[in-house]
Amino acid sequence: MNYEEAKDLLAKHGQLQLLEYYGGLTEEQKSLLLDDISKINFGVVGHLNESDKTNDGGEYKCPPAKDLKDIAENRRLYEAEGLKLLKAGKVGAVLLAGGQGTRLGYDKPKGTFNIGETRTLTIFGQLMNNIKEVTDLYGGYFHLFIMTSSVNDGQTRSFFGKNGYFGYPPEKIHFYIQDTEPVCGFDGKIFLSEKHRVALAPNGNGGWYSSLVNSGLGEIISAQGIEWLNIFSVDNVLQRICDPAFIGATLLSGKACGAKVVCKTCPEEKVGVLTERDGEPCVLEYFEIPPELAEKTDRDGNLVYRYGVILNYLFNVGVLNEIYRHKLPYHVAKKAVPHIVNGVTVKPEKPNACKFETLVVDMVRYMGSCLAYEVEREIEFAPVKNKTGVDSVDTARRLLKLNGVKL
Ligand code: UD1
Repeated sequence: MNYEEAKDLLAKHGQLQLLEYYGGLTEEQKSLLLDDISKINFGVVGHLNESDKTNDGGEYKCPPAKDLKDIAENRRLYEAEGLKLLKAGKVGAVLLAGGQGTRLGYDKPKGTFNIGETRTLTIFGQLMNNIKEVTDLYGGYFHLFIMTSSVNDGQTRSFFGKNGYFGYPPEKIHFYIQDTEPVCGFDGKIFLSEKHRVALAPNGNGGWYSSLVNSGLGEIISAQGIEWLNIFSVDNVLQRICDPAFIGATLLSGKACGAKVVCKTCPEEKVGVLTERDGEPCVLEYFEIPPELAEKTDRDGNLVYRYGVILNYLFNVGVLNEIYRHKLPYHVAKKAVPHIVNGVTVKPEKPNACKFETLVVDMVRYMGSCLAYEVEREIEFAPVKNKTGVDSVDTARRLLKLNGVKL
């Protein structure tokens, strides 16, 4: 794209401010800026004033679940089915590590955070230990895809390299960078992060599969005959990854995906809630669930919408390939984002910008059917979200010790 073309394009979209400093740039900087401009998804800014479409009414129900009792009774059957799939190489896993550890107040990749006390035990290290439990059980290694962001990709890759890939075969680990969307002010004007760079931000965890395909890694999935992908968050240090019983139960249920859930502790707990709306699976995020649904109790005083998702899902690849091009709704996140004003970088303290994110919870709806698979929170849910208090380093350490992990 040359300068004239960029100018026409920006004029069409009301974004000419992106060329404000063009005249003073070096040739190399000019070419970087023009390249950035050529890649902007201008359509996204049109979503600025849309309300989220995920929660637009309808009849909600609590979905039937494979609860702890059912799983205890049928564990052997489920495990045997899951192990068969794992041994046949039909399951892969995807670690969502593109987010920033903002709430933790940590500016490196969240997985490199040390949760050890008397020894070094990073979040990545602990997740790889959890993976080892399964790979030891079936005597093989599944393909592990790691989604990073343009901000943390280099550091994440070198951390795995320095740690010898935690004993995992490097040829089975595939890193990819998640796609980005432009960042704009509340008036819809896209920001510059430098005089010659358009401000971009990771597009939320809903982009995990499209980014994987865009990076070319979808070919490994088809060439290796991978039929199921277990996606999991970077912050739950107790979670089981490629858990054979979860895989087996989802397969036998005939559903297109499965979600590990825990019973919520209170209506305000910061987890998405798995519901059924008009017969379709629907996850209501904690920041958008109407209070009357979150607080509703049955005759015994139990929460009606009680199944909180722990961000550990199993997706059928065939169905993913049919649905992933559907546009997921954008959620607008208001954040404080440094950018160029009058030629200098300003670092705001209050939110000044909009980031556009798609969420994996919306993907569950497009999958058409979802098995709710209950797990015990003390054994499988120790999210490290905050520095202190709820879902913090302290609570995760306590739960790890409870499960016999030496810190
Ligand atoms: C997430 C879930 C929520 C669930 C809770 C359980 C989503 C949208 N929300 O909430 O339903 O109940 O965990 O603890 O899934 N990530 C990326 N790229 C991004 C943004 C995030 O890879 O652009 C990754 C993060 O690295 C992390 C995961 O997604 O592994 C969760 O992200 P976060 O934004 O922290 O979600 P929560 O609000 O904690």
